[in-house]
Amino acid sequence: MNIRYKRHDRSDIAIHWINAACWLLLLISGLGLIQNHALNPLGESFPEVLRAMAGGAGNLLIFHEAVGIGWLTAFILYLIVNPKGAGFFLKEIFNVSPARDMTWMVRKMVLMTLGEKALKRMGQPAELPPQGFYNMGQKGFAQVAVIGSMVIAATGLAMLFSDVGPLTPATGLTGWAVTLHYLAVGLVFAGLLVHIYMAAISPEERPGFKSMFTGSVPEEYARHHHRLWYDRVNQNAQE
Ligand code: HEM
Repeated sequence: MNIRYKRHDRSDIAIHWINAACWLLLLISGLGLIQNHALNPLGESFPEVLRAMAGGAGNLLIFHEAVGIGWLTAFILYLIVNPKGAGFFLKEIFNVSPARDMTWMVRKMVLMTLGEKALKRMGQPAELPPQGFYNMGQKGFAQVAVIGSMVIAATGLAMLFSDVGPLTPATGLTGWAVTLHYLAVGLVFAGLLVHIYMAAISPEERPGFKSMFTGSVPEEYARHHHRLWYDRVNQNAQE
């Protein structure tokens, strides 16, 4: 029989893809707002084209702020609709077993870069320690994404207030908000490159990718990639 293991609710899937769409729009419009020769990662012409397309920097800023507010609203709605799912997600990603998870991380990185022979030369077996609902790579990225997104949202709101009120943060605080906003986006974006590669391109993670649409994974994938979670689900089913 083709048994499937449920990984995501419909609301989990919706918030993930809304988040991804908002990130894309915020990143593109945000890059268009940079008017600093020393900081602009894509040179001058890209922001200039974007500002021209939006009918000026003012309109682009309004678009960026509106998407940011929409992004925050979507998360608040998700927390109202599925507080249990949000709690489960946070518990899983911050639950780290240093011995097991760091060993997994080191072996996985060696396997992906230098290969199995290198791992054996290091006196390490090629098997990876069993992982829970998320593996350590997913947990690491999710931690960066959660903390980074909170910094991005808080600093974004501080900048919005300094623009339109009603509170007007001190100039020094706004300066820090700009700096931290930029740094947090850079950090999450770096993780995002690995996340997208692992989740959408790497063939061995294909069932995980499909689960972000269907909500479930085949038994073999659950057993092989998330053994501790697989065992827990089976144990609960027997009780
Ligand atoms: C093209 C863009 C993206 C693709 C293809 C993608 C794909 C996926 C997939 C397939 C999963 C499920 C993994 C599993 O359950 O085993 C996932 C989970 C997740 N995604 Fe994305 N994602 C994208 C964009 C984003 C963005 C922009 C963020 C946040 C900034 C994000 C944050 C997360 C988080 C926190 C998880 C749960 C932890 C993890 O599996 O790493 N994703 N993503």
